[in-house]
Amino acid sequence: MYQIVKKEVLAPSIKRVQVKAPLIAKKTKAGNFIILRIDEVGERIPLTVADHDEESGLISIIFQEIGHTTKKLGTLEVGDYIQDIVGPLGNHLDIEGYKKVICIGGGSGTALLFPKVKAFHENGAEVISISGARNKELVILEKELQEISNKVYITTDDGSYGHHGFVTDILKNLLEEENDIDMVVAIGPVPMMRAVVNLTPKNIKTIVSLNSLMVDGTGMCGGCRVTIGGETKFTCVDGPAFDGHQVDFEEIMNRLSFYKEDESHICNLDKEVNE
Ligand SMILES: Cc1cc2nc3c(=O)[nH]c(=O)nc-3n(C[C@H](O)[C@H](O)[C@H](O)COP(=O)(O)OP(=O)(O)OC[C@H]3O[C@@H](n4cnc5c(N)ncnc54)[C@H](O)[C@@H]3O)c2cc1C
Ligand code: FES
Repeated sequence: MYQIVKKEVLAPSIKRVQVKAPLIAKKTKAGNFIILRIDEVGERIPLTVADHDEESGLISIIFQEIGHTTKKLGTLEVGDYIQDIVGPLGNHLDIEGYKKVICIGGGSGTALLFPKVKAFHENGAEVISISGARNKELVILEKELQEISNKVYITTDDGSYGHHGFVTDILKNLLEEENDIDMVVAIGPVPMMRAVVNLTPKNIKTIVSLNSLMVDGTGMCGGCRVTIGGETKFTCVDGPAFDGHQVDFEEIMNRLSFYKEDESHICNLDKEVNE
């Protein structure tokens, strides 16, 4: 059992909780994720370790309440427990040897981006962060990003804060102005990641973090299958970070919408059971 020791609301429907998990805090590196189950009958959902502190044994997770489990997670309060947490899982991001990087987060993807920005910053790289949201209310972690980035750009789709437009507008200008960028990292909705990859030249390593649907998280079920450079990979054990220029985005879009019809179907039996 893992106790929640701190809880914050970062934006409507985006929450951050700190959980006591000393062994995970000790082993985690930027890019790793965990799979948690709220209670004995709960589904297992993957969430990125947004921050970790070996000394206090705390890990942070930032989540967007989009469905049953994340909404239920959002109702837990300080002192409550999460039934089980498995991790750290996945591969961590290779940050060695990169001197100037652009880190791009879209929506709640900014939460997943944060540990990568921190790792690059701690490794001495110059970091330019770009964070995009639909509107001002949904902008998250701006202050935190400013503390660990050399420059931060905020964009909003409706122009209510920062640059009016998309993260790719800023990226396009930066790629024209700066000739010494040696890596771009993009995390957010799949169309956003694909747009970033379409902008970056092949000689700039462009890393994306894939949010495939997952079941076991151990490479056994095949649920998170993706095609990278024509080869089949599993996001849970081979990723979640991959070379964006090699990713088959079309396939990911199709796989993410695979259960859409089932999810929107409300079963009459369920209604009766829940009443
Ligand atoms: C490696 C990894 C790390 C992740 N880290 C984070 C994180 O740090 N914070 C965070 O908020 N989310 C993160 N996610 C996404 C998160 O796991 C899903 O949002 C969560 O599983 C949804 O569970 P739910 O029961 O609340 O929603 P569900 O009821 O299962 O789903 C509600 C809706 O969201 C869609 N959906 C479900 N799972 C995903 C998914 N994995 N990707 C895209 N759409 C999905 C469904 O198709 C459905 O339309 C991560 C996913 C992966 C694979
Ligand atoms: S989640 Fe089962 S193989 Fe990746």
